[in-house]
Parts: sequence; C-alpha cells; structure tokens
Amino acid sequence: EKAGYDHFMLKEIHEQPKAYRDTMLGRISEDGRSVELPELKMTAEQLKGINRVHIVACGTALHAGLVGKNVIESLVRIPVETDVASEYRYRSPIITPDTLVIVVSQSGETADTLAALREAQRCGARVLAITNVVGSSVAREADDVIITLAGPEIAVASTKAYSSQLIAFFLLGLYWAQTVGRKDEAEVANVLAAMQALPEQVEKILAQSEVIKQVAESISHHSSLFFIGRGVDYAVAMEGSLKLKEISYIHSEAYAAGELKHGTLALIEEGTPVIALLTQEDLYEKMLSNIKETKARGADVLGIVNEGREEEVAKSVDRQFAIPRTLPLLTPALSVIPLQLLSYYASLALGHDVDKPRNLAKSVTVE
Ligand code: BG6
Repeated sequence: EKAGYDHFMLKEIHEQPKAYRDTMLGRISEDGRSVELPELKMTAEQLKGINRVHIVACGTALHAGLVGKNVIESLVRIPVETDVASEYRYRSPIITPDTLVIVVSQSGETADTLAALREAQRCGARVLAITNVVGSSVAREADDVIITLAGPEIAVASTKAYSSQLIAFFLLGLYWAQTVGRKDEAEVANVLAAMQALPEQVEKILAQSEVIKQVAESISHHSSLFFIGRGVDYAVAMEGSLKLKEISYIHSEAYAAGELKHGTLALIEEGTPVIALLTQEDLYEKMLSNIKETKARGADVLGIVNEGREEEVAKSVDRQFAIPRTLPLLTPALSVIPLQLLSYYASLALGHDVDKPRNLAKSVTVE
C-alpha cells in the first residue's frame, strides 16, 4: 500500500502534484478566468458583508493558515488574525457579526480545533472549515466546508494535506476577491494560470530530491539549526522547522529573518546550519543582508531560491536549491517541498520511525 515507497511520508510527498490537481478540479471555470466554489452555502451578499477573518488551527494546519492570512490580506485586503486553537478558545476572542472564522484541520477531528469552532459559533460567527475528511466532526459542524482532495494521509507528519490547504486558500482568496470586485477577470486568470502550472513544477522539484538528501545527511549531525525567511517565506520557515522537529527530533527555530539580530543571533555558531528562504523578490536584498549576519558568525547556509537567481546568490550562501518560478503569492506551494524532503531524509539518516514519530498522534482528540 506504500506503492513502492519506503514510507508513507515519501509516498505522500510524491502525491502532491495529484493532490494539487484534485483540489483545483471542478473549482476553476472552463475558460480559466474564475473560481467556482458551489459547495459554499454562504451567498455572495454574505461574503461581501465579511470585514474580518480569524484563522484558527493547530500544528501544520495553523502554518497553512499563516499562508492563508497572507493570501486573503493581499487578494481581498481585509484584516486576518491567526491563532492557535487551544489559545483562541480561552481568550474571549473579539468576534463581531462581520467576522468569518476559518478553521483548518486535516483530520477534522482535532479536539482543540473543534472546541474553537464551537466557541466561535457560540459567539455568533459563521465558520468555514478547510478539511481533508468528508463527514469529519469539523466538516459536519462548520457552516461552510471546503474539502481538500489530498486523499488519505497516513504518515503522522502532514505533507500533502498542508500543501492542499494552501491550494484551498488560493482558491478561496481568488473567489472572494472576484466576488467583492477586488480583482478583475484578467488578474484572477493570471493567478489561476500560475496555479495550474504548480503540479508540474512540484514534479520538477521532486526530481531533484537527491540534492536535498545530501544536505539532510549533513544537517543530521547537528543538534540545532535555524530556518529564516521574510513575509510568506517566514510562514513556510515555520512549517519547515516544525516538520524537522516532528520527525527527526533535531531542534530548530524558525525566525523572521529581520528579527534574528534582535535576539538570537548569538546562537548561531561556527557550522550552525541555516536554511534561508529567498523566494520573495521584493525582500531579496534584505534577506541577503540577514544571511550575511549569519555567515559572519560561521553559519552554513542553504538558500532556497527562485530559478534564475542561482548565480547571484552563489556568493552569499554555501549551498542552494532552486525552485521554479511562480507568482510571489504562490511560492509556499513550491518552497515547502524541499523542506519536507529535508526533514524526511534527516529522519531517515538518523534511523527514526519516519511515519510514526514519538509522542505524536495523527489526530489528537483530547484538549
Ligand atoms: C497534531 C498532529 O496533533 O495535530 C499534527 O500531530 C497536526 O501533525 C495537528 O498538524 C493538526 O491536525 P489536524 O488534523 O487538525 O490538521
């Protein structure tokens, strides 16, 4: 049932092109110029009445929510807050009648997320769920549901469910922007065309897994490392760091690159691995100067860069991995792939149980 792969996690990493296609299927108009979400019960008028969003989830799903915040804020221009479900529930969240609460959960059974959903509804919010499991508790109780079509995810560490949640956020953001008239047809069509290229671009990344495997083997000897990025790269850095911790038990920290100098730079010593994400062109120069700060302390830097930048970046980093070009908004759907592979191969190199890491359950049904 692992279809020839050594582990479910590797199989699921390789299923991402299909998961992207399936999640987009039937949700893009035939002419490729608009998003259709017939599953939403919420009317266009109701959607137009939403002026703020809370995204609530746990673990990897929360990290997808951080990307979702970026997507909704940049496409729709309404404020989005994200919160850990177990915190949200107990902090008397400020929910106004024009707040939409979005819960994200692969399993749809995470007790903390379910409790947050109920609390939001109790306070009068409309709840939209992004989940991978039809008929799950979250799917049944939410007012609206967008199902990700990643297929069953067996490995405890989430890969294809996370990335399909990103696709769901792209679709929702575009649908919303077109409904409220924030984006015209040409702009929506442009993003949709880029989205439809993602599955093939992921294939291209997967074909270069060997490069990442070598980096993973070298980092597996270290006890601590850093993931840095700015903007949406910071959100992806957080997911890369969590994935590594979850299955390799190597300590790592994700940092907003510009924040390093305000506290933790001293932890970077000779040889400390730093994974630097550089997919956001407008933040590129700033990232390079943050990388320089780490290099000055002896960091061994792996840069995740956009294709075409390799030559320029070569003098600033020790090693690099190039991802195919896409729109800045969509890069997380590509940049997370090498990070998933990195944690997979690091865990493998250390001889851990990749699919069933210690102290972690696929879905936690206690609060
Ligand atoms: C944790 C899992 O308990 O729950 C994580 O170990 C997962 O891998 C998190 O990301 C959230 O799960 P779900 O099913 O709500 O997305």
